[in-house]
Amino acid sequence: MRVYLETFGCQMNELDSELVRGQLGSLGYQFVERDDEAQVLLYNTCSVRELAEQKALSRVGIVGVRKREGERLILGILGCMAERDGLDMLRRHPQVDILCGPAELDKLPQLIDNVRRAQDAERGELARERGVALAGNRSRRTATLSAAEDGLESLDLSRAFDADAREQPWSAYVRITRGCNKFCTYCVVPYTRGAEVHRPPDHIVEECRRLVDAGAIEITLLGQTVNHYRYTHGTAVTVGGREAPQVGPGLRAFRDDSAPIARTTTFADLLRRIHDEVPGLQRLRFVTSYPRDFGPDVLAAMRDAPRICRYLHAPAQSGSDAVLARMNRGYTVAEYEEFVARTFEALPDATLAGDIIVGFPGETDEDFERTCSLVRRLPFKNNFIFKYSPRPGTTAIDRYPDDIPDEVKRWRNNTLLAIQSETSARVHAQWVGKRVPVLFDSVRARAAASRPASGTVALRVGGEPVDAPSVAGWQAIGRTAGDLIVAVPVASEEAGRAMCGSIREVALESAQALLLTGKNVQ
Ligand code: SAH
Ligand code: SF4
Ligand code: F3S
Repeated sequence: MRVYLETFGCQMNELDSELVRGQLGSLGYQFVERDDEAQVLLYNTCSVRELAEQKALSRVGIVGVRKREGERLILGILGCMAERDGLDMLRRHPQVDILCGPAELDKLPQLIDNVRRAQDAERGELARERGVALAGNRSRRTATLSAAEDGLESLDLSRAFDADAREQPWSAYVRITRGCNKFCTYCVVPYTRGAEVHRPPDHIVEECRRLVDAGAIEITLLGQTVNHYRYTHGTAVTVGGREAPQVGPGLRAFRDDSAPIARTTTFADLLRRIHDEVPGLQRLRFVTSYPRDFGPDVLAAMRDAPRICRYLHAPAQSGSDAVLARMNRGYTVAEYEEFVARTFEALPDATLAGDIIVGFPGETDEDFERTCSLVRRLPFKNNFIFKYSPRPGTTAIDRYPDDIPDEVKRWRNNTLLAIQSETSARVHAQWVGKRVPVLFDSVRARAAASRPASGTVALRVGGEPVDAPSVAGWQAIGRTAGDLIVAVPVASEEAGRAMCGSIREVALESAQALLLTGKNVQ
């Protein structure tokens, strides 16, 4: 059977899709590049904003037309939207055969198989049988998961390690924590991904080792609040001598000090373990950090371990205390700034990035001005800026009316983007004149005419604005350890391709808002 799989949303979804591909591939399913060549169409969806859902729904509409025209297809909606929309989706879109939430992906082969059999039995008639696997409230219960039930862990464990499994074989994701317990009022993730579950450190280290053995030189650890990782040994169920994933931080860890202290692996411990036990790993990164959970131990681990990238994606979300409180983010602007100051004190060459939501309910002009001021003050290399999108099922949609008109949201979005662009240009300019290792990952043709895009400023050493160089040709594109994008001229497309997947020293010569340019010095 030929399968087409399209992925929307975050890195978690990209990893899930990789695992699904591995799992179905090992069962003989064949993956194709084009949806019109496939018999099974799978969309791994995102629910974080309405726009993300609309993209997936437009695909559902197109497949619906094809099915009505008589094509025999199996349509599966996977991921967060399946979980959020649940059975409503089946009611509204009869063309959907399979719904599979992100916590149930290990059941996907069975679901596809059931629908296939039902379709075969009805000899071309539209099958009545539909496959549904959603976690519902189950993943939110507080009991310890038993390893036997935890099919998702076995999905992570059974991943295909060969380089073909990934688009960029030199780079891989490893999940350390699933779910989220923060309940920011605007966010669907705690509902779609369920309760926070920490994977046993041995599984994680082993996975990293095997990926590196298979050619990965960069690993990105994934978690919604990745730095909240904490595994308390001896409290989870063990099966066959192996430790199982653990719901929450292991409550014993937080009981009174007089209780016998269970051994825990903190996020800092985990970073050190991976760094020390997988010496072939050249870059260890992690996303997304939750500002409040960033302790000095993590900064110390990063300072001591040279192959841990000094890059923090730690979203501020807003520069106003009132808005942060309504968002239930759990920190004030001053606390966020204190965290940034501590970071740069410990790691002067660190880079900082984040996310910001504009137009959250009740956001006044003054609130917005405070966010602008934060983006001017702090050295954000970039921020993803989003217009608030009310999401069904969240606290915010019930508690706070969506009272900021869309044109105000749009204006705030654009205004903030322009400010971010200036901040980005300043951050990038500080790197000009330095030599840094760059991991190359793509090649692009460079257009001849190139004035900087509006809102961006090109800078050279000394800070004088200049036009970007206007030579046509090829550029190899890569990233520094701090995730700054670097372009280097190369003689040909092939020469650029040959650099992909390797780390090379680059002398940085000029900077724009989102790009550094330099020369390969190796
Ligand atoms: N766990 C990460 C973020 C996950 S979602 C964290 O806490 O930082 C990625 C980003 O989407 C969030 O940081 C937020 O900026 C944005 N986002 C989430 N829900 C949103 C909503 N309802 N409307 C607009 N943006 C939203
Ligand atoms: Fe959503 Fe907040 Fe959890 Fe991030 S920390 S996933 S924004 S609830
Ligand atoms: Fe989207 Fe789910 Fe990721 S809602 S951002 S795919 S966790």
